[in-house]
Amino acid sequence: MDRNLALEFVRVTEAAAIACARWMGRGDAMSADQAAVDAMRKAFDTVHIDGTVVIGEGERDEAPMLFIGEKVGRRDGDCPKVDIAVDPLEGTNLCATGSPDAIAVIAIAEDGKFLNAPDTYMDKIAVGPAGRGVIDITKSPTWNLAALAEAKRSKIHEITAIVLDRPRHQELIQELRKSGARIRLITDGDVSAAIATCKEETGIDILFGIGGAPEGVLAAAALRCTGGDMQGKLKYRNDGERVRAEKMGIKDHDRVYQLTDLAEGDVMFAATGVTDGAFLRGVHFFGGGATTESVVMRSKSGTTRIVDARHHFDRKPNYSWLDS
Ligand code: FBP
Repeated sequence: MDRNLALEFVRVTEAAAIACARWMGRGDAMSADQAAVDAMRKAFDTVHIDGTVVIGEGERDEAPMLFIGEKVGRRDGDCPKVDIAVDPLEGTNLCATGSPDAIAVIAIAEDGKFLNAPDTYMDKIAVGPAGRGVIDITKSPTWNLAALAEAKRSKIHEITAIVLDRPRHQELIQELRKSGARIRLITDGDVSAAIATCKEETGIDILFGIGGAPEGVLAAAALRCTGGDMQGKLKYRNDGERVRAEKMGIKDHDRVYQLTDLAEGDVMFAATGVTDGAFLRGVHFFGGGATTESVVMRSKSGTTRIVDARHHFDRKPNYSWLDS
């Protein structure tokens, strides 16, 4: 994949982040999400790719834009054919309440290299580079904590786990507490949480628990670039989801997906902060413009670039949507 595309992808997440950041704290998750989707969709039109959305806002009949199978990009002549995973606003409630760690995200892989994850849940375990190769989702959380602690030459009580605060995680949380590990409970945003395991300064060592399956693929793309590790197992809420998954090509419902089963080959990942967070600074507006912080990474080189941008809307004709 052409590395020069990296900056183009950052423009896409910047546009989505700026659009939804205007809705920060206004208690309207749907409008925030819609603003991000609209802006991301428009921004894709300028990118030199022949892209197909494989992780998106839903299926064609339920999402007017960025639906699964939608073609995006300039798609002229020699554009590279790529698969795209998007979450224009990961953490809609975080944005609606002005809470930390809402981000706009995309990941790109060569044709056919992402798991076409159905819109269901996924049980996940994710770690940074120090825990690569030592996790096993088929074993207990305590077993995994002990394995990670050993790999990090620390004690379980020095390990910090991050978990979505949900009733379905009651048993998991109880077990983690019993093991002596420290826990950070979060209200939303398990893509940022998975990435946090790869950044020492966050103090997060391991992610456990059930979140969205599409978010699992996005997190896997990021961890491919940062050298972390992850495993996932699909978790269906009902039979309808199981049938949908089968239609999307899932045959083995109990399969354990390794990192490269989720995101294989040459992968790129880009994200822009919407609200201030441990991962990225959010959008800050000033008279006639805004600043953003984004990250763009590639699995091939392992390079991570942080892009600090200052946008002047009066000099950006393609940001006219901000006036609407
Ligand atoms: P949205 O941005 O789509 O609201 O997702 C936020 C999120 O917290 C994800 O990070 C996570 O994977 C998923 O929701 C968990 O789902 P649920 O809220 O149903 O527990």
